[in-house]
Amino acid sequence: MNKWIRLWLVCCFPLIADGQLRIGTGQISGIYQEHCAVCHGRDLRGGLGGPLVGQMPNKLTDEALARWIRDGNVDANMPAFKDILSEQEIRALVIYIREHQQMQTASQRTQTEPSGRGFVMETVVGGLSTPWGMAFLPDGSFLVTERSGNLRHFVEGELRSPVRGVPKAWASGQGGLLDVALHPDFASNGWIYLGLSQSDWKGSGGTAIARGRIRDNTWVDHEWIFQTPPEHRTRRSFHFGTRIILKDGFLFFAIGDRGEQASAQDLSSPNGRVHRLHDDGRVPEDNPFRNTEGAFPSSWTLGNRNIQGMDVDPVTGQLWAAEHGPRGGDELNLIAPGLNYGWPVITHGMNYDGTPITEKTEAEGMEQPKLYWTPSIAVCGIHFYTGSLFPEWRNHLFAAGLASEQLHRLKIVNNEVVEEEVVLRGEGRIRAIATGPEGAIYLVLNTPDRIVRLVPAP
Ligand code: HEC
Repeated sequence: MNKWIRLWLVCCFPLIADGQLRIGTGQISGIYQEHCAVCHGRDLRGGLGGPLVGQMPNKLTDEALARWIRDGNVDANMPAFKDILSEQEIRALVIYIREHQQMQTASQRTQTEPSGRGFVMETVVGGLSTPWGMAFLPDGSFLVTERSGNLRHFVEGELRSPVRGVPKAWASGQGGLLDVALHPDFASNGWIYLGLSQSDWKGSGGTAIARGRIRDNTWVDHEWIFQTPPEHRTRRSFHFGTRIILKDGFLFFAIGDRGEQASAQDLSSPNGRVHRLHDDGRVPEDNPFRNTEGAFPSSWTLGNRNIQGMDVDPVTGQLWAAEHGPRGGDELNLIAPGLNYGWPVITHGMNYDGTPITEKTEAEGMEQPKLYWTPSIAVCGIHFYTGSLFPEWRNHLFAAGLASEQLHRLKIVNNEVVEEEVVLRGEGRIRAIATGPEGAIYLVLNTPDRIVRLVPAP
């Protein structure tokens, strides 16, 4: 194969796939058509066997669906497939059925009946170029990043020209200027943190964190807090992560696996995990792998595929993270030091092309997600709502879907998800969520690129 075509396939395939619904396609579709369609219909709507979309199968757990396929049911006249299909293929079929269930409901546009009061969506600012992250300043204005590399300040209804002199981002594929966050003591120290992708003169890149201050719409006092060492950079322009969380003098951020799955389990790599540093970039003495020979010292976790959502539960102080899984394996995890979240050894998803990765969804010494989305919603930002305009949603976790264009609301009690609801859909790819100073829910949206806010209906 021509080198350039191959390079394109290697580099760009996962790039297209992450954040897009690739559901109902691929090799698994062939397996379904060969073994199941004759009874359940080519479109899963039923025939000799019942429909695999709609009410009934929705009520079955993944494990129950797998059991039906594996063991069949003599009384119901459903054949067993355990001698014909591998466990991986059965797992992939479960994901395939879930995808078709999703496709049936995805056509319902606009918001579902919300549990609380109704809300209206107002556009705050449009005319942005792939906005990615946002942060409110104490004066009520906010900063927003554009993936192309601009940091912009929105003050009193007006979007200022880009801040001059911000560190140059490698705007390629999923990379560019990503998250922005303020130091908790911003009012007194003025520190602003940026997450971005960087590349060297050879076109090899990685995730970096910088901090600086803004004076006269110019980036000053610049400091690098973290830069991916050259030996861990790659030319691939996807799976950079990241989100920035500042808490108790520490800085947390995440880097994706950079398209090298094994790196997430490699102690010496910075990729595929959450990191913890002091807010000035020093490595804390009590980091879990600090004294492990050869380990990357700022590692806080292992086995995370590509985290693009992180926030702290205001009730418990616990750190939560959402990661893009492979097809059908997006995860919400409770983050704790030194734990291994399993990628790519265990996963609830399969490859984007519909081939199985592994049938293993759990293993000794590896954490289970608190929630996983099958099919994937392409989960991006997560945010605990702390405002007062929607009192019934206070401290609930909101999760943003890119491909699904859905806003999910999750109620978490004792570190478990006890309730989930889709409160908005079909308004564009949702990248990030924030609570505004007036208590509204702000959403950073792509296609069309804009920032909106949700306020209670009059
Ligand atoms: C010979 C016909 C036949 C074939 C082939 C067949 N099934 Fe079934 N299946 C049935 C019947 C009959 C039932 C009984 C319940 C119903 O009508 O849905 C059933 C039930 C099920 C259920 C439980 C549904 C529910 O709502 O409880 C699942 C899941 C399922 N099949 C999946 C599959 C998959 C996946 C394949 C292909 C690997 C497959 N089946 C192949 C006939 C078939």
